[in-house]
Amino acid sequence: MNEAAEDQRQHRDYAARIDGKAFALALRADVAQGAAGFQADVGRQPGLAVVLVGDDPASQVYVKTKMRQAAEAGITSFPHLLPGSTSQTELLELIARLNSDDRVDGILVQLPLPAQIEEAAVIEAIDPAKDVDGFHPINVGRLSTGQSALVPCTPLGCLLLLQDRLGDLSGLKAVVVGRSNIVGKPMGQLLLNAHCTVTTVHSRSRDLAAECRSADILVVAVGRPEMIDASYIKPGATVLDVGINRIELADGASRLTGDVNFVAASSVAAAVTPVPGGIGPMTVACLLRNTLTAAKARSGR
Ligand code: GUN
Repeated sequence: MNEAAEDQRQHRDYAARIDGKAFALALRADVAQGAAGFQADVGRQPGLAVVLVGDDPASQVYVKTKMRQAAEAGITSFPHLLPGSTSQTELLELIARLNSDDRVDGILVQLPLPAQIEEAAVIEAIDPAKDVDGFHPINVGRLSTGQSALVPCTPLGCLLLLQDRLGDLSGLKAVVVGRSNIVGKPMGQLLLNAHCTVTTVHSRSRDLAAECRSADILVVAVGRPEMIDASYIKPGATVLDVGINRIELADGASRLTGDVNFVAASSVAAAVTPVPGGIGPMTVACLLRNTLTAAKARSGR
């Protein structure tokens, strides 16, 4: 029996905590198996180029995690750690070299980039076949027209968790809070492709709480600590919290929290992702999955 059905059978009146960390671990094991098969067939590991410009501490942590987990899954990383003063021309030259390097199946340029570099120009320079972030307009267009595409990692991770928990999503009402290119917009497309009725809300939306209360599936990606409380949630909803916010505590220490008040949400929802340990680990696992997908497609497998 799946976890949701078990909850129902036992008449549990508190929300299930969706364990993204455990799901991501299993997903990375699948990717490792696929990567081993790729190596046996092709004679090399799938390759991921990881580009970081500057020394933003959060980006440094993300990039280190991505490279460590790539290695554990049997994916070779090619790190390119560049100074914050790197020019756009220099970065575009690097991307051109990575595009034509046959050992490189995926190219990840960690965002945000320093102010002197135009993000759109960099994203458009990446070969769409190596665009493991799914940010290139070709992949965005392919996703929005329902064609096979490399899909942004965070919303892909959300979709996999939802399908694992709820099975077929057809006809469910999904509300996405936030309209970023990285999460909100592609999340809406993925849910629409999965036959949900989708509404995207944002800072200018009227009566945001009422919109959210209509959702069977609520995905929140706005970067505002704990803005979603119980009054935004329909009883029995499934809530995915994409926010990762560091908040300062009175004693000078800090802690991570999401865009959802986990305790409050748990009193109303059927299931909620925690922060940390929810969506975050799924993002990295999906990056590795996309790298394997790109590697196989590039070698005709
Ligand atoms: N910065 C924050 N999230 C992401 C992501 O998913 N990919 C990249 N490249 N940079 C990010």
